[in-house]
Amino acid sequence: MTSTLEADVMLRAERLAKSFVLHNQGGVTINVFDGLDLEVRRGECLILAGPSGAGKSSLLRSLYANYKPQSGSVLVRHEDRVVDLCAAEPYEVLEVRRRTLGYVSQFLRVIPRVPTIDLVTEPLTTRGVDPAEARERAGTLLTRLRIPEALWRLPPATFSGGEQQRVNIAMTFVQDYPILLLDEPTASLDVDNRRTVTDLITEAHEAGAAIVGIFHDAEVRAAVGTRSYDLSANRQAA
Ligand SMILES: Nc1ncnc2c1ncn2[C@@H]1O[C@H](COP(=O)(O)OP(=O)(O)OP(=O)(O)O)[C@@H](O)[C@H]1O
Ligand SMILES: [Mg+2]
Repeated sequence: MTSTLEADVMLRAERLAKSFVLHNQGGVTINVFDGLDLEVRRGECLILAGPSGAGKSSLLRSLYANYKPQSGSVLVRHEDRVVDLCAAEPYEVLEVRRRTLGYVSQFLRVIPRVPTIDLVTEPLTTRGVDPAEARERAGTLLTRLRIPEALWRLPPATFSGGEQQRVNIAMTFVQDYPILLLDEPTASLDVDNRRTVTDLITEAHEAGAAIVGIFHDAEVRAAVGTRSYDLSANRQAA
C-alpha cells in the first residue's frame, strides 16, 4: 500500500481511535478519542490543548507508536517515503524514530550507568558524525541548557528533576529531527531554562521542523505555538 502526503505535510493522523480497557477494573472501557484527524506541516508548531484527561499525552504516544490505536493511521514522511506507523513493522518504527521522529517525554527514562555526555553524543555518532565533533556539539548544548560540566561524566540517575528534564531535551535536540513530539518539556524548569527551551523549540520550527507539543505554561504556548488543536471535542462518553 502506498500512502501519500501533500508536499509540506510531515505527519497526518487519520480517523484515529484510542481506548483503554481496564481489565483489573471489571473491564471498564475508557474511550479517549475517536475519528481524530490532524496534520502538521513543515515549520509548524501545533499545540495540543484540552483539560487534564482529555487525551493529549495518549495522542502524542499514539503518534510515536508507543500506544497502538484501535483504528486509523499515523502517516509520517520518512526520508523519501511515507510510513504508516499503525501498520509498520517494529524495525521500521525504530528506523523512523532514529532519523525522523523525536519525542521528549515529561520525565527522563533513566538509563543506568551511561554518562550524561555519552547519552547526548551517541545519537550523533550513530548517525556517522565524527566523534570529536559530536562531543563538541553535545557539550555546547549541555552548556546552553546549564548542565554544569562537572555533571557531564555522571549518569543522570541522581540528577534533580529539572536537570534530568534538560538532559532529556538535549538527547533529542542534539539532532535536527524533521518531526518533534514534545510532552510538557518545560514542566519542571525554572524561568531561565524555560526560556532556553522555548528558544530551542522556536529555532527548530523556524528551521523547518514540524512540531506537536503539549505545554502547561501559557507563556510558552504563546511563544512557540503556530496553531492549536483542542482535544476536548474528541472525548467520547464511555
Ligand atoms: N496506559 C493507560 N491505561 C489506561 N488508561 C489510560 C492510560 N493512559 C491514559 N489513560 C487514560 O486516558 C485518559 C487520557 O489520559 P492522558 O494522559 O492522555 O490525558 P492528558 O490530556 O495528557 O492529561 P494531563 O493534562 O493531565 O496530562 C485518562 O482518562 C487516562 O486515565
Ligand atoms: Mg498528559
